[in-house]
Amino acid sequence: MSILKAAIIGGGHIADQNHLPALAKLPERVQVVSICSRDINKARALADKHGIPFAYDKADEMYQAEGRPDIVINCTANNLHYPFTTQALENGCHVFCEKPPAMNAAQANEMADLARQKGLILAYNFQRRHSPEYTALKNYHSLGKLGEVYHIKAHYLRRRGIPGWGNFTNKAIQGGGAMIDLGVHILDLALGLTGYQLPARVVANTYDFIGKAGGKGLKGSWNPESFEVEDACFAYLSFPGNVSMMLSTSFALNMEEEDVVNLEVFGTKGGAKLYPLSVHTEIAGELADIRFPHLGDVDIQLENTIAFLDLCEGKPANICDAAQGAVLQSIVEQIYQSAANK
Ligand SMILES: NC(=O)c1ccc[n+]([C@@H]2O[C@H](COP(=O)([O-])OP(=O)(O)OC[C@H]3O[C@@H](n4cnc5c(N)ncnc54)[C@H](O)[C@@H]3O)[C@@H](O)[C@H]2O)c1
Repeated sequence: MSILKAAIIGGGHIADQNHLPALAKLPERVQVVSICSRDINKARALADKHGIPFAYDKADEMYQAEGRPDIVINCTANNLHYPFTTQALENGCHVFCEKPPAMNAAQANEMADLARQKGLILAYNFQRRHSPEYTALKNYHSLGKLGEVYHIKAHYLRRRGIPGWGNFTNKAIQGGGAMIDLGVHILDLALGLTGYQLPARVVANTYDFIGKAGGKGLKGSWNPESFEVEDACFAYLSFPGNVSMMLSTSFALNMEEEDVVNLEVFGTKGGAKLYPLSVHTEIAGELADIRFPHLGDVDIQLENTIAFLDLCEGKPANICDAAQGAVLQSIVEQIYQSAANK
């Protein structure tokens, strides 16, 4: 296999801290040739920091020039996932796009259709799939030990975690609040245990009491005057086959813990909690709890980057592909629509 040439579009936090370090660990498979970001000086500085030859501030120039890539890693803000991903696909590049897939279902479906038409790979960076707890849970489930999974409680909650930086409270850039930013991660994990299907019914509520009121923040202080998104969202999803899911997510909620991120899975033969992983079942006529004390550490970003490269090389891979991304984005849209129809 020849070494794939990669370009990063959007030279911010996730590019610098996650993607570039992971790509640097795979020199036999990929070489980052270009960084394209809005500010050419910042693009050049990030390229220099990571030893990357070319920097651009206009993606269309990059596709015509020496730094032309085979794969594009779209690390821009949510509202730019669709335009930069479609542009990259039109230019014949595979795309590894940050989460959420897009701003709405129509965009995510169009992105998936375009990738299919062009015969190119499009996948999304839901890297938590590679956590050792989730991998062990999936393996355990695939042995049939949980039986049929019929209900999941999925939480990604923060007590006062409205970010005091960035675009997180700007609806036009983010597309929403806690659900589209945090909830999507845990939704991806929950859907991976229930067949990644679309729900038949969705009932959801969103709130913005704390965001609009202001107050003490644990992730900087935010401006309540410009708070345009939901600070909390609670959704009940009912899937074909009598499978159900309760999804709860918040940037701000008056609760005891600072953060709660977890999945509770309920099956006909066993149940499980993800963090720390435990299984609850019946063995030899007794109720039993199983723990997994030796799971070890995994570089989840590296594993997801490897999964993307595998997919580009035609190998099967555990990654949120274009079709799954479109399902997830449709669910997010259904949740927001249900909440708006009160
Ligand atoms: N998978 C994860 O765990 C994870 C974690 C953090 C962020 N993200 C996602 O990554 C994306 C970026 O987040 P971030 O925290 O890096 O944001 P950021 O604001 O730090 O970076 C975004 C970058 O895009 C650049 N940009 C803006 N407009 C541009 C344009 N027209 N052309 C080229 N570049 C442009 C900005 O200059 C900035 O450098 C978001 O979609 C976010 O949801 C994912």
